[in-house]
Amino acid sequence: MSFNGKVVVITGAAGGLGQEAAKQFVNDGAKVVLVDLKQEALDQTVAELGLPEGSYITVAADVSKEEQVKNYVEKAKEAFGQIDVFFNNAGVEGVVIPIPDYPSDVFSQVLDVNVKGVLRYEICDADYERAKIWNDY
Ligand SMILES: NC(=O)c1ccc[n+]([C@@H]2O[C@H](COP(=O)([O-])OP(=O)(O)OC[C@H]3O[C@@H](n4cnc5c(N)ncnc54)[C@H](O)[C@@H]3O)[C@@H](O)[C@H]2O)c1
Repeated sequence: MSFNGKVVVITGAAGGLGQEAAKQFVNDGAKVVLVDLKQEALDQTVAELGLPEGSYITVAADVSKEEQVKNYVEKAKEAFGQIDVFFNNAGVEGVVIPIPDYPSDVFSQVLDVNVKGVLRYEICDADYERAKIWNDY
């Protein structure tokens, strides 16, 4: 499948599936916007994957934080002019314990990242006419 001329935002880009997605999209001709919590992890990802200069940008961001989402959407458009695909892959597992013991702060984080993080209006507004929202769920 060709992604020539397409711009793909990948969240959770420093993780296992995010890295594989980044490699594949770039191999298929896309420009990629790599988003993850820590800049160091993104730098390491880029180095390990050997992505060509000009094929990517990195933006450290937490997908559950509105201002940070707005920032990576803006950075993507500044760098590449458009967004065609959101690969909303960032996720947290939470904990596996009986429901009565489940800590409410962890439950909130799971919802904020895994649910709200893929439905943020900043994402949906970004390029509504052209972008395809892809999630891994
Ligand atoms: N690997 C699997 O077999 C599998 C199966 C089912 C679903 N998934 C889901 O696929 C996604 C990726 O899986 P993976 O195996 O690559 O996981 P992973 O843990 O290797 O990578 C997840 C990445 O998301 C980042 N992340 C977490 N919270 C974030 C936030 N708030 N903002 C930005 N980035 C954040 C982490 O830093 C990490 O780099 C996850 O959502 C996971 O739940 C994976």
